[in-house]
Amino acid sequence: MKATAKAHTNIALIKYWGKRDESLILPMNNSLSLTLDGFYTTTTVDFQDSLTADQFYLNDRLVEGAEHHRVSAFLDRIRKAAGRPDAFAYVHSTNHVPTAAGFASSASGFAALAAAASRAIGLPDNAQALSILTRQGSGSACRSVYGGFVEWEKGAEADGSDSYAIQIAPADHWDLRVAAVVLSSDEKKVLSREGMKRTVETSTFYSAWVESIPDDLEAIKAGIAEKDFEKVGEIAEANCLRMHATTLAANPPFSYWQSTTLAIMETVRKLRSEGVPAFFTIDAGPNVKVLYTPEHEETIRNTLQDVPGVHDIKVSRPGQGVSYV
Ligand code: ADP
Ligand code: DP6
Ligand code: CO
Repeated sequence: MKATAKAHTNIALIKYWGKRDESLILPMNNSLSLTLDGFYTTTTVDFQDSLTADQFYLNDRLVEGAEHHRVSAFLDRIRKAAGRPDAFAYVHSTNHVPTAAGFASSASGFAALAAAASRAIGLPDNAQALSILTRQGSGSACRSVYGGFVEWEKGAEADGSDSYAIQIAPADHWDLRVAAVVLSSDEKKVLSREGMKRTVETSTFYSAWVESIPDDLEAIKAGIAEKDFEKVGEIAEANCLRMHATTLAANPPFSYWQSTTLAIMETVRKLRSEGVPAFFTIDAGPNVKVLYTPEHEETIRNTLQDVPGVHDIKVSRPGQGVSYV
């Protein structure tokens, strides 16, 4: 009863921001992402009869408190689905991505955990069922089950049975690049979960955010199909700005941005004015992801690394979905 799985992070081009059901993790809006080959998690789950509770090790350190509880509560769902309520596990996970810093560790982390635990406990291999299960660990993680361009359908059912991800185009559809510009790998003060909850409950801009999604989605899907880089980049950048605007109108207001975040946004706009097509997007954290096509690799790298406050640049290509080791 042991299995190891690997999952990559993903970057949302149309953001998931807000839940209609917090327990089942059902989103307010559809979202769309690109799986990234540069950041991933490997997780081994080993169910042992001798255990009376789960033991969770992240990057070789025993984890307790809220992070342990989140993993254990998720394993409860898997135990229930498998009809094995008393099966406890050793969980060893390694993040090849900064944890809780806005690089989507919850996406690779819960996709790898769900895949390894499902296989270890003997649940049938089924990608759609895995996406539904994974969603209940972290919403964005349901998209990491698949590689390439992925849409998370919000669904309409109260039980979440139609809220799962589907692949729009495989990783080899389009050779895009995403530079993760690392300003800070510190853990964020407002976790994604808490940030979106506060936004849904208090932000006066929230309804406008939700209303803006269908048009963005339709247009970006056409752009992906046509490989229209300007179209995809413009929509992703505008969608990101609209998501972050909702946090400024929350009560109490908050923002994930730092001064260097703004400096990079300005640098990307300047690159564009000089004829280099590049667009930014930002998840729940200060770090910026820059989208571009391979021919501009050198210019993008050289320009971004000269911005004061930039610590590192990690370039990804489109990545694959969950795999077993
Ligand atoms: P991020 O931007 O990294 O996705 P989130 O606020 O969404 O940040 O989630 C961070 C949380 O995800 C961590 O506090 C932890 O509870 C969980 N997490 C991160 N990595 C793993 C992992 N490998 N296995 C299980 N849970 C993880
Ligand atoms: C800004 O999936 O991390 O990155 O479902 O509460 O675990 P939980 O939140 P999470 O939120 C991701 C928010 C985002 C946008 C996105 O990835 O779509
Ligand atoms: Co996350």
